[in-house]
Amino acid sequence: MFSDKTKRYKLSDSRQSFLASFAQDGELVIRLGFGEVLFVRAGSSVYAFRNKCPHQNKPLNGCTIREGSVICPWHKYQFNLENGRGHGLYLETYPLLETEEGFFLERTYFSWFGE
Ligand code: FES
Repeated sequence: MFSDKTKRYKLSDSRQSFLASFAQDGELVIRLGFGEVLFVRAGSSVYAFRNKCPHQNKPLNGCTIREGSVICPWHKYQFNLENGRGHGLYLETYPLLETEEGFFLERTYFSWFGE
């Protein structure tokens, strides 16, 4: 009846072409079917998470990435990039993966009806 579901969203034909779409150490906001996602490049890494801070629902544009955490630009709350935890709150983070079919964001969510 209810379960976790995982859905993939294609971002580009390859990781390299996706990264070329925004600046090194830059940000990119993309609206997907479930909401806005903020992508942040930091060096050779790229991170993806919901563009809404769980503290006061403000956008995370302008955030800082430091030592495995994303730091909100508004009140400086920190959230772990791997699991989204911080200050008793939870930031939705998304794994990115490259396959032969392209470069994808993966989102796992709770579903009541298996949809
Ligand atoms: S809105 Fe992000 S820390 Fe307050």
